[in-house]
Amino acid sequence: MNSATNSAAKSAGKSGNEQRGEERREERERAVTTAVQPTGTAARILEVFGEHLPVRDIYSPEGSRLYDVITRDDHSEVREILRAARGCAGPVLDLACGSGRLTLPLRALGQDVVALDSAPEMLRILGERLAADGARRSGAEVRLVEGDMTSFSLDLSFDLVVLGATSVTLLDAPSRARLFARVREHLAPTGRFLLSATDHLERAARPTERIRLLTGENGPDQALHLMVEHLDPLAGTRSISILRQTVRAGEVVANELFVSRVHTVSSAELSDELDAAGLRVTARHPLATGGPGDAPGVVLLECVR
Ligand SMILES: C[S@@+](CC[C@H](N)C(=O)[O-])C[C@H]1O[C@@H](n2cnc3c(N)ncnc32)[C@H](O)[C@@H]1O
Repeated sequence: MNSATNSAAKSAGKSGNEQRGEERREERERAVTTAVQPTGTAARILEVFGEHLPVRDIYSPEGSRLYDVITRDDHSEVREILRAARGCAGPVLDLACGSGRLTLPLRALGQDVVALDSAPEMLRILGERLAADGARRSGAEVRLVEGDMTSFSLDLSFDLVVLGATSVTLLDAPSRARLFARVREHLAPTGRFLLSATDHLERAARPTERIRLLTGENGPDQALHLMVEHLDPLAGTRSISILRQTVRAGEVVANELFVSRVHTVSSAELSDELDAAGLRVTARHPLATGGPGDAPGVVLLECVR
């Protein structure tokens, strides 16, 4: 029996309110059991709220909408990537494009873009943003591709492939090897691959946290976002958790926790992995800090075949 029929059978004979309450509880349970569990302060926040706090993956449909809201003003890497894109022949491949934080400025520059992501909701939001931003299109075209960056196959080769927001850390070592093989396959002979990496775990001698509070919206309501980045160099883990509190007429009407656990790999280790995949690192650009998603110790690696 699937969960929908299961829920219908269980709710037989109950009032509308009871049914809705039960459905909400079931939805919360499903969300809590399917998402990565938080660490550090976020784990303690979850203890405080208990079962009343739904936990979701940051790249779930709901999380994709949150990601879009909190990264709208994040301009980290954009200047460096636009500089590399100037004068590129043909489209730029924006891997793990999300809701278009890099795609939109690339298009505004007049660059055609192939924007690939595995999350349909991210691509839906990007499609909406592209349509809304039509006035800035400058004749450039964007092709949206739903796909996995470790297994894609496109009918094109690219002068420039970008992988921003340290998204390479979403992958474990075998997946990174598959990604780099795909990138090499799709790079033009003189093409470049730019990817951002983070070295901040190396700098931490003991578990550390960065906690920031961002304001924003959740649909028509205001929202507070408490972002907790927890690094544990001993366990080799880094997780990012966001408590979203939706505020309506001065009252918190909903609390949700969004979690992403990433892999820890330094830029030096990445350079070795890239090298093994036939991609040579030719430059390392330290990234300026400033945006809300920004972190110290982020570097943009530039590679060629
Ligand atoms: C940190 S966001 C980066 C989004 C955007 N590039 C930016 O700079 O803001 C990571 C993105 O990677 C996507 N993603 C995760 N795993 C993926 C995979 N295996 N293949 C393609 N996209 C993936 C997620 O859906 C999400 O949109």
